[in-house]
Amino acid sequence: MSSPRIVAVFGATGTQGSSVVQALLADGTFIPRAITRNSNSEKALQLKALGAEVAEADLWDIDSLKQALSGVEAVYGVTNYYDPKNFAQGHTSEVLLGKNLIDASKATDVKFFIWSSLPHCTRVSNGKYANVYHFDNKANVDDYLRDSGVPHSILHTGWFSENLWNYNNLVSVPDSNCLEVNVPKYDLQSPQYFTWVERDLGQCTLALLKHYKDRDSEVLSRTFYAVSEKLNYTQFASILQEALGRPVSFAPSPTTGLQELDDMYAFQSEFGLYPHTAIPDPRLVSLGVKFHTMEEFSQEIKGRYA
Ligand SMILES: NC(=O)c1ccc[n+]([C@@H]2O[C@H](COP(=O)([O-])OP(=O)(O)OC[C@H]3O[C@@H](n4cnc5c(N)ncnc54)[C@H](OP(=O)(O)O)[C@@H]3O)[C@@H](O)[C@H]2O)c1
Repeated sequence: MSSPRIVAVFGATGTQGSSVVQALLADGTFIPRAITRNSNSEKALQLKALGAEVAEADLWDIDSLKQALSGVEAVYGVTNYYDPKNFAQGHTSEVLLGKNLIDASKATDVKFFIWSSLPHCTRVSNGKYANVYHFDNKANVDDYLRDSGVPHSILHTGWFSENLWNYNNLVSVPDSNCLEVNVPKYDLQSPQYFTWVERDLGQCTLALLKHYKDRDSEVLSRTFYAVSEKLNYTQFASILQEALGRPVSFAPSPTTGLQELDDMYAFQSEFGLYPHTAIPDPRLVSLGVKFHTMEEFSQEIKGRYA
């Protein structure tokens, strides 16, 4: 009997990781091992009920990582810059967490590592946007991963469609039937790169996992773009309006209240997240990913804004 193919999924109780766990469960080739700091949380128990393994580990604690990675074939790695405990340790603490995970994966002989990453704003903007830490940190981990010798792919994500409710980027205008998409610092014409995480991120991860052996030259040491669709926010507002049956406009707010996030949006508006890439990523399409459109997304979320 062949041994079970276990994939450790970090961030499994969050937006990214839960998409990965769901995709692996639906497919059945791999057993997802959901990694969390609290295996008794409501989300962890839900994942367990769905059929995932659940294991406790903390990215700050390398021994807990090695233990949780025992018997694991592959890892989906993501760090959360804004987690209060991580954030309290300083702007670049996320780099340490990524390095810990790579070191633990190497020590436990993980065969394939997928790293969720973002562009290096400082480098891309030639120093103009030098304080978008949660981007630069992840890109700095890319470099460490490349040097580590751990077989890997890097998966870049776009702006999560789920931000509409997770970060209140779609709000009701008081005393009216209207809704506003309120992303700051964004030019009306600048494209945004949308990722419907729930539907598309797990699929992309699964495709890489399924083909890192039989199509290794297409998968290993490569950077992919898990982006569902490229649109400007005015186009996105029109799609939402059509689906939701309510007036929706794009109304850039002056600030998020956080300088780092304002700079992040200004960077994206000025430079674009992935300007040199075809969207959807044809290499992921060729590996079997069927990306969804923002029209499909908008139809699906109707109930939330009825
Ligand atoms: N929102 C966007 O548009 C967007 C776009 C691109 C990239 N991102 C990136 O996405 C990342 C966050 O992903 P998300 O939205 O999926 O997160 P999320 O929904 O906020 O969930 C965070 C996850 O991280 C886990 N976690 C946090 N600190 C941990 C630690 N020290 N050890 C182990 N696990 C830890 C949490 O697990 P437990 O609490 O269960 O332990 C939880 O599963 C951010 O770094 C952000 O930069 C966001």
